Order: sequence, then C-alpha cells, then structure tokens
Amino acid sequence: MKKRSIWREIAPVLAPIALISGVCISELSRPSAITAAAEQVSAQVSAQASANAGASYAQVAPILESRCASCHNPQGGAPFSLLTYDDAKQWSGQILEVTQNRYMPPWLPAPGKGDFVGERRLSDAELEAIRGWVGGGAPGSGEAGPTAPEPPEWPLGKPDAVLTLAEPVALPGNGQDVFTNLVVPFAGDQARRLRAIQIRPSDPQAVRSVLLSFDASGRLRQTDGWKQGIAGMEPPEDAAAGAAGLIFWSPGSQELKPRLGDSWRVKPGSDLLLTTHLKTTGKKLALQFQIGLYYAAKTAAGGPRVSVVRLAHRGPIEIPAGASSTTLEDSYTLPQSAAVTAVYPRAHFLARSFEAYAMTPRGKQVWLLSISKWDADWVEVYRYRRPVLLPKGSVIHWTISYDNSAENPHNPSDPAVAVHGGTGPADETDALLLEMEAAAGTNTVTWRKAMESAGK
Ligand code: HEC
Repeated sequence: MKKRSIWREIAPVLAPIALISGVCISELSRPSAITAAAEQVSAQVSAQASANAGASYAQVAPILESRCASCHNPQGGAPFSLLTYDDAKQWSGQILEVTQNRYMPPWLPAPGKGDFVGERRLSDAELEAIRGWVGGGAPGSGEAGPTAPEPPEWPLGKPDAVLTLAEPVALPGNGQDVFTNLVVPFAGDQARRLRAIQIRPSDPQAVRSVLLSFDASGRLRQTDGWKQGIAGMEPPEDAAAGAAGLIFWSPGSQELKPRLGDSWRVKPGSDLLLTTHLKTTGKKLALQFQIGLYYAAKTAAGGPRVSVVRLAHRGPIEIPAGASSTTLEDSYTLPQSAAVTAVYPRAHFLARSFEAYAMTPRGKQVWLLSISKWDADWVEVYRYRRPVLLPKGSVIHWTISYDNSAENPHNPSDPAVAVHGGTGPADETDALLLEMEAAAGTNTVTWRKAMESAGK
C-alpha cells in the first residue's frame, strides 16, 4: 500500500521550472489525475501572468499574511514559512501553481452551496495579484521582511489545567498517515464548565486534524492498550459526539470555544477524546499533546441546546477493486424542526465527491454542502455563518461517489483492492454528521431523542 500525493511528487519539479521559464507551466506533461479544470487554469495562468505582470510584493504580502500565514509560520502546521519576502520569493513558482489550481489554501466546499465561517477561498482579485507578481519575476525587496513576533505559548494566558497524554504517540519517520483515538483523562477533582480549550501538539507538522469529544462515562479507559491510542479513523462507537457539538482543531486553528450561551462540561472520572489524523514528517517522533483547559465562572444551569446526529449509510459499503464510480445515496427525514449549525462529511481516501442538501416539505432545495474534489487530508468541520433552518419533515439527501481505480491519486492501494465499510485506514465510510439546534421553546431532551433515533 502506498499513499500517493500528486502535489508532493510534482511540486518540487515544477518550482524550479516555473521560476526559470517565467511561469509557463502549462506545457509540462501532467499526471492524468489532474483534472481538465486544472489544465484550463494553468493555460489561463500562463496567458494572464504576463498580462497582469507588475503586481508588487506590497500587494501580495497581505494575501500571504491573511490567507497563508496561519499555517505557513515557523510554529505552524505547514512545512515552511511564508512570512517574509525571501520566503515568498523562494517559493513563488509553487505559490503560483498551488493557488491557481486551488490546492492552497486548502478549502474543499464549492461556493454557493453552504455559507461557512472561515471560508478559505481566494478571490479572483487575490489570484490575479499573485499571478501578476510571480509573472513579473516576483519583484520586491530582498531585505529581511517583518519578523513575526514569537506567538505566546498560551495566547489566552495560563490555563487552569493542562492535560497531557499518558504516553506520547510513537510516530515513524515515514509512511502512511496514522489515525488514532487518544484518550485523555480529566484530572480535576470537581466538575467544571469550560470556556476555552487550547490544543498544543509538540510538533504541529505531524498533525492534520483533531476532532475533540467528551466521554463522560470514562469507559474508553477500559479498552486494552488505550494509553497507546485506539486505532481508527472515526471515534469508537461508545463516544458519540453528543451534546458538546462538533469540536474540530487543526494546526491553523485558534483556541476552541463553545458557542455563545453553551458551555462544555467535564467531571472527575471523565475523559477527553482526541480523534486524530496524524502524518509523518521525515523524522521519528514521540508526539505529545498539551491540552489547556480554561474554566468558566459558574453560570446559570441550562443544558446545551445542540445535538450531533450521525447519519450513516444504511446497508453495507462494498467498493470493488478498480471500479471508478461507486455511488451511494441516502436520505433522512427530520422528525422535528432544527437549525443546522455545522456539518462534518465523513468518507475516507476513495471518495471523489460528497454532496448534501435538504428538500423542505414545500419542495425547496437547501444546500448543506458540495465537495467536488474530495481530499481526505483537508476535510474539516464546516460551520454555517447563519444556522440553516429546516422545518420538520424536511428530507436530507446525501450522495458520495467513490473511485477505487488507479486514476484516483488518493487511492492508498496500488494495485487497487476491494474496499469495505469500517474505521481502519484501508476501509471506507459514509456518514454525514450534523450539529443541530432545537428551535427556541422546544424541550431539548425529547427533541434530541427524536433526532437521534430517526438517524439510526
Ligand atoms: C490550513 C493550513 C494551510 C493554509 C491556510 C495554507 N497552507 Fe500551504 N500547506 C499546508 C500544509 C500542511 C502543506 C504541506 C503539504 C501537505 O501536508 O499536504 C502545505 C503546502 C504548501 C505548498 C507546497 C505544496 C506541495 O508541493 O506540497 C505551497 C507552495 C503552499 N502550501 C502555499 C500556500 C499558500 C500560497 C497559501 C495561502 C494562499 C497556503 N499555502 C495556505 C497548510 C496550509
């Protein structure tokens, strides 16, 4: 089995060529996996790069700072920094390539089908400024740029408690991504409400993402070998996301905070669960996490209003070896009105596309999400800018298309093998996780029961 990444393979080749040839990358023969759309973009790039030549570094620097630096900084999740002119100049050929084909900044949802917080899609004007700057030979001053201030260890101040893993994760230097569930016991001696959580991995470059949940039962600690992590791409059955909502972290994230009016709770004997997607970095690592907890002052009681409903494919998942298009379609009827606040599409490496929408009882189509270039490395929890209101009886439809042929650059197996449903790194999944809120005045307990049992 091997995990292929087209970008990792061709980028080092493209960069020097793009620099030398003044950016004309469209003549390069490309792996068949790169879509026609990317071809088109490249053709436009070479045609327009000269037309727009002349953009200055002063026009590009703010784009790099606001769109790239959250990950491309010395402590960030990306393998190199893009904070100074010298950095940007050195990487300019690749910057052009990966921005024009929208590999960077990573952002999967199609525009217009779901309006999300923190959308990382470059505007046409931003793309044009980058084309112009690189096309003009990436001019600018070679002097050291603004040196970014060292970020403080704990931007919110000293946490009330810092939890760590019982044992660090032993990550090999090379090889496939690692998917593991890390159980972190809450060490406090009294129940607490949390106003914020900060996650600090010892090496952010080794972490793609973390889905955080709370296991109030403490049962996961009865799993054999829990200290080494419970393998799997999804949380164990017992630890459903539940009432805390969808809590997602990646190295570009700030601290995590509950939604206004909600709070997260921990009590003695309970655990935090980090469902992690890790990657190798070239060096063997003992990866540790520090989890800073910030306690809230006591506030009026009142249960959380959200619930996470996991809508899973009904029936077996069987994807034949070599099959280039296996499509699974499902639907779910909302037993109660709800406001959808966030969505987490779940599929693994073989998916090509993921679509979800609702049909209201009056026949109106409401888009929840559309991803046409699925990439398991960059999937996130997507939070709506405004909750998506769906009346009782709305039908949620979701469709995933899988490609288990050699044409899929993300196919982990070469040659392809038959793939089944499961949570291992060679398995596939099909689920739509929705974080939803009851309408004001609804009894949340009954509402949640109805939602969850309809999703089963
Ligand atoms: C959310 C984090 C994040 C953001 C935001 C981001 N990057 Fe990246 N970038 C990464 C990571 C991580 C990698 C390493 C490749 C990988 O892990 O797949 C990378 C790789 C790259 C590469 C090398 C491509 C290769 O061949 O692997 C370039 C060039 C790049 N980024 C440019 C940019 C630019 C330009 C921006 C902003 C317009 C940007 N990135 C925004 C995380 C990010």
